[in-house]
Amino acid sequence: MKIAIGNDHTAVELKNIIQAYLEEKGIEVMNLGTNSTESYHYPIAGEAVARAVVSGDAEKGIVICGTGIGISLAANKVNGIRCAVVSEPVSARLCKEHNNCNMIAFGARIVGPEMAKAIVDAWLNAEFQGGRHAQRIDMIMDIEERNSYK
Ligand code: RB5
Repeated sequence: MKIAIGNDHTAVELKNIIQAYLEEKGIEVMNLGTNSTESYHYPIAGEAVARAVVSGDAEKGIVICGTGIGISLAANKVNGIRCAVVSEPVSARLCKEHNNCNMIAFGARIVGPEMAKAIVDAWLNAEFQGGRHAQRIDMIMDIEERNSYK
C-alpha cells in the first residue's frame, strides 16, 4: 500500500512520527508536506495529497496541520476526496466504515503521537460497509458533480 502524507509547519514532528510508524508496517509513504518549521500554507499540502489520491499515485492520504481543519478543507475541494478530521479512533474507524473516507486529517496541536497512531490504525484496519452507506456516498459525489462550475 502507498499512502501520501502532507503537513504544514505545525506538524513536521508528528508527520515524521507517523511516516516512520507507517514505514515500520511496510507501507510506502509519499511525503508531500513541508519538512521545515518555517511558516507554510497548509492548502498547498492539502491539495498535493488529495491530487495524489484521486490520480491513483497513492491509495490513501493523511494530512496534518495545527487543528487538521484547514488542511482537510483544502483536501475536500478536490473532486473525489472525502477527508474527515478525526481526533480519536472511533470516528477514524467510522469515517471509513460509513463514509469511505479516502483521507483523514488530524491536528498536531490537538492529538499527541500515540493518539495519532491509534487513529491511523483504526482507519487503516476499517473497511467500507457499503449498502445504505454507498447510496449516501453516491449522493455526496452527485453534489460535487452538480456544483462544479467550470
Ligand atoms: C497555522 O497557524 C494554523 O492555522 C494551521 O496549522 C491550521 O491549524 C489551520 O487550520
